[in-house]
Amino acid sequence: MKRIFSGMQPTGNLHLGNYLGALKNWVKLQDDYECFYCVVDLHAITLPQDPEALRRASREVACAYIASGIDTNKSSLIVQSMMPAHTELAWILGSKVPLGWLNRMTQFKDKAGKDAGKQLLGLYSYPVLMAADILAYKATHVPVGEDQKQHVELTRDIAIAFNNTYGEIFPIPEPLIMGEATRVMSLRDGKKKMSKSDESDYSRINMTDDADTIMLKIRKAKTDPEPLPETAKELESRPEADNLITIYASLADTTVAEVLKSHAGEQFSTFKKDLADLAISKLIPITNRMRELMADPAEIDAILKKGADKANALTQKTLREVKDRVGFL
Ligand code: AMP
Ligand code: TRP
Repeated sequence: MKRIFSGMQPTGNLHLGNYLGALKNWVKLQDDYECFYCVVDLHAITLPQDPEALRRASREVACAYIASGIDTNKSSLIVQSMMPAHTELAWILGSKVPLGWLNRMTQFKDKAGKDAGKQLLGLYSYPVLMAADILAYKATHVPVGEDQKQHVELTRDIAIAFNNTYGEIFPIPEPLIMGEATRVMSLRDGKKKMSKSDESDYSRINMTDDADTIMLKIRKAKTDPEPLPETAKELESRPEADNLITIYASLADTTVAEVLKSHAGEQFSTFKKDLADLAISKLIPITNRMRELMADPAEIDAILKKGADKANALTQKTLREVKDRVGFL
């Protein structure tokens, strides 16, 4: 039995990196796996959130999943805080996690900055909750962008440690890092990841941007004066050019090599126009569908309730098994 679990945080705007690095792949996996796609609101509160904005963002992320092509008849759409087994299992797993493992997590180091001592426990123990998310479903595969690979590897280590102590319970999950755009970079700085938290809105294309905004952001995207090269090797020292070509390849469902075959020698001013047209043709239908779905929150809530019922049945079963092994009454 092959089972997928993955999730996104309902914080800020979903962007092109979320779409190409994760969502687009999730849609493709639906026919071959049993899929659980989660809105990870418990993870979101590891940084300050406004309660109303969080509630709205949770529905918006669910709408983005559906608008991108997640079929709620095939896959389960769930909200993390509706399944108590996630947090309960996280506590139990925590008893098998040495601090040294958490100290290695680059995402914590990046988010905590220099003043790690002032950070809250939730941000530090975040990867243990992520492990519980995955293991509560006995997921075999976890599709994520490159930045989450380390957390999935930690999940594997936790599963192995737990199985060694208590006997085989968890399958060891594999990260699935798919497609060309596993790490979409900022449009302003090719060495920085495109992220929800970048203060410049020009650094990212949001899934709620209209066509004019997408056009403008791509036109203003940083590049260098050289035209498109003939080989991918020549892009190694040109991160901004590499990023735009990778985005194009991913949106067009092709490879960087194929894009270079047809566009080598072209100036970026021309290429950006093509890229903007392509981005608009792929993203605007999703944006429009998201807006329609957001107009009916009761319908979204019903879908999430259905997902939670299925997920609760499954995760409570795992939790019972874990509790029996650990020795709880
Ligand atoms: P987050 O926005 O951190 O909740 O991430 C949700 C999913 O999107 C995860 O699978 C991430 O790996 C993926 N993701 C986030 N930012 C990027 C990016 N810039 N490029 C590729 N994937 C990304
Ligand atoms: N930490 C992930 C991120 O920020 C989100 C996440 C939480 C997740 N739990 C997960 C992803 C379980 C995959 C599986 O992107």
